[in-house]
Amino acid sequence: MADASSFYITTPIFYVNDVPHIGHAYTEVAADVLARWNRQAGRDTWMLTGTDEHGQKILRTATANGVSPQEWADKLVADAWKPLLDTVDVANDDFIRTTDERHERNVQRFLQHLFDEGWIYTGEYEGYYCVGCEEYKQQSELVDGTGEYEGQLVCAIHSKPVELLHEKNYFFRMSAFADRLLALYEERPDFVQPESARNEVVSFVRRGLDDLSISRSTFDWGVKVPWDETHVVYVWFDALLNYITAVGYGEDDDRFARRWPAQHLVGKDILRFHAVIWPAMLMAAGLDVPTGVFGHGWLLVGGEKMSKSKLTGIAPSQITDTFGSDAFRYYFLSAISFGQDGSFSWEDLAARYQAELANGFGNLASRVIAMIGRYCGGAVPTGTEAARTEADEAIRRIEQEATDAAWQAIDRLQIHEAIAATWRLVDALNGYITEQEPWVLAKDEAVRARLEAVLETAYHGVGTLAVLLSPVLPKATAKLWTALGAPGTVQEQRIDRAHEWSVGTQTSALEPLFPRVEATE
Ligand code: MSP
Repeated sequence: MADASSFYITTPIFYVNDVPHIGHAYTEVAADVLARWNRQAGRDTWMLTGTDEHGQKILRTATANGVSPQEWADKLVADAWKPLLDTVDVANDDFIRTTDERHERNVQRFLQHLFDEGWIYTGEYEGYYCVGCEEYKQQSELVDGTGEYEGQLVCAIHSKPVELLHEKNYFFRMSAFADRLLALYEERPDFVQPESARNEVVSFVRRGLDDLSISRSTFDWGVKVPWDETHVVYVWFDALLNYITAVGYGEDDDRFARRWPAQHLVGKDILRFHAVIWPAMLMAAGLDVPTGVFGHGWLLVGGEKMSKSKLTGIAPSQITDTFGSDAFRYYFLSAISFGQDGSFSWEDLAARYQAELANGFGNLASRVIAMIGRYCGGAVPTGTEAARTEADEAIRRIEQEATDAAWQAIDRLQIHEAIAATWRLVDALNGYITEQEPWVLAKDEAVRARLEAVLETAYHGVGTLAVLLSPVLPKATAKLWTALGAPGTVQEQRIDRAHEWSVGTQTSALEPLFPRVEATE
């Protein structure tokens, strides 16, 4: 069972230079499933997502499109990033934009505090800057360009030329925190997950840390440095602070104390910002470091990280228009071990939709509801103890085991394991119905009591599934809940005690939860 603590989960805030693809939607649904699950386990839960709107990358995109960066950001947020949350059915508690007043003034407050404490100094920097990454690059992170960039050095991630910058900047004394960071990784082995990500971060910090340039003066699209308005705050320094400005840092101490620290979910490409720079910033400010940083893998298309710039981007609606948001959520969270890369293919998605959602779960729910309708006039059978057998006890045990195993997996952020644990119950119930053959029992009035026991067991099992799957399949399980005639909403049920749900008395008809999808090609 869950404890009564609080749970604050975040996604990265997304650059508004372009529209979302399924890689971004993947992070959103993972955070949403963890939030819904924790909320249903009785934890004081908060899920934050939002957009990263400052910096040179956004400025250039806006300029290229002939509008101001603020206009560009407003349009992308309204037309693309907020609608994404509906497309994949995310129930976030807040949406922060780095252009929000509440964010900007507290970024300044944080910075001023670090400046007053002596953690910031003026220096000069010369280095190669990648605008795609919004980061200075080491020589080892660059490669020789090919094609139109032949003869130039390009960023290994974006394959675009880097720019040699020479600026007078403000610097954060990050180098002073290397030992404290190493001690943190040592004392809290789960601080960075998965283990491969942790190892990479530890060896990076062991090589020693440089101080970090945290301002830019050659353009002005950003938060102004409070003591020197000719500089704007470096976009990553600004962006990371969203996690605390959104929950009251600087102006609402009670709220801040209630929510912070957070569990961060990020793609592995931005792990270092979250596992190195961010905790060092918090340490300097005397604040708690995050609960943890989990680096998930990439969605691969044709073996490569899917990206718009490489023209492999797939819009989430391309999938949800055909398969629905539940299938989107289920597919990416069950087919990919959370933390590993995963290849996306339409064939795999269509095959799993049919085998697991339509035939495995959907059909099970439809059959059970239909049989209670046909054989009992929709009245939920009760009081069948005397006619129960070991097979019924086994199902009850699996309901409890699945409930416990799924919650334990979620508590370790292992979403795919939680779904697999739940699917044991789907398979067990399908096997049970095949073995018990209620349609045969229904032909013989002498075994009526046994028929009712079988239907009661199946009904109970399907209700437990509705609760356990509600974070992943919110739409389908809400429909199923109504058909089960159970009280309240499925989202109100305690998921860490899913097997103890309170049953209804009368079922009603259920449309297929996962209708057949016609091949479009
Ligand atoms: N704005 C920064 C984050 C600041 S957080 C303080 C940023 N934005 S982003 O829009 O470029 O990326 C956001 C997230 O999307 C990252 O976690 C990144 O890993 C993720 N993904 C981008 N492409 C992806 C895939 N192909 N697969 C999975 N996730 C992907 O970085």
